[in-house]
Amino acid sequence: MIKIRIFDNTKEAGIYAASLAEQVILRNTSTVLGLATGSTSIPFYDALVRFCNEGLNCNGVTTFNLDEYVGLPSNHPQSYRHFMDVHLFSKVKISDMNIYFPDGTAADLKAECNRYDNVLKDYELDFQLLGIGTNGHIGFNEPSHLLLSNTHVVSLSKDTIQSNARFFQSELDVPRQAITMGVQAILQAKQIVLMAFGYDKAKVVAQAVQGQIRTDLPATMLQLHRDVTFVLDAKSSSEL
Ligand code: GLP
Repeated sequence: MIKIRIFDNTKEAGIYAASLAEQVILRNTSTVLGLATGSTSIPFYDALVRFCNEGLNCNGVTTFNLDEYVGLPSNHPQSYRHFMDVHLFSKVKISDMNIYFPDGTAADLKAECNRYDNVLKDYELDFQLLGIGTNGHIGFNEPSHLLLSNTHVVSLSKDTIQSNARFFQSELDVPRQAITMGVQAILQAKQIVLMAFGYDKAKVVAQAVQGQIRTDLPATMLQLHRDVTFVLDAKSSSEL
């Protein structure tokens, strides 16, 4: 059963989601967080940074990010690594050695995916943060007739390119490919928190929670997990 929590505003929602992460961090001496990017996750990072400023110790935290665009170097303003540097890593004490990211500029992308999976297999994700695409993608696991379990290179769907174009100068600038963690690593996380806000996400949130499990709506896979919480606002929950 997916747990649903609905908040008046995104700030409150971010504080709730970050407090779930805080509980995990406090329970373990070393915590492994799976992290997501996208505008929805910003209130989560704002709250987590606040908790750290207020005394939460993140020294023992290791992080794995879900995905990265192919071709964007880490200092590119739209790379996910840059997003994380701006919203979290520059503001809290997480050692650089404990931050793991797929490298979208690797010459051999397949080898890079294998490298990421090899690191991942030595860790257990205690907590996985997710956003959701309007097409139901999680990470960059796009709707398809099949889903891949391991980290892989994905061709971004037209929907995703269009909806992520808002962050680039034009749609033509959006990378056509990305590296994403597969559904196996996501579903093996002990706890999953998915955040979604706004009317744009209402339909897909309802399908993810109540619809049939299908690979052309990857977020429906979350119904198979034992500990998933959807953190929503009134708009994104309006079709439930
Ligand atoms: C990207 C990311 C996803 C994220 C989605 C939602 O496509 N790869 O992990 O869930 O954006 O983004 P936003 O929160 O900006 O709507």
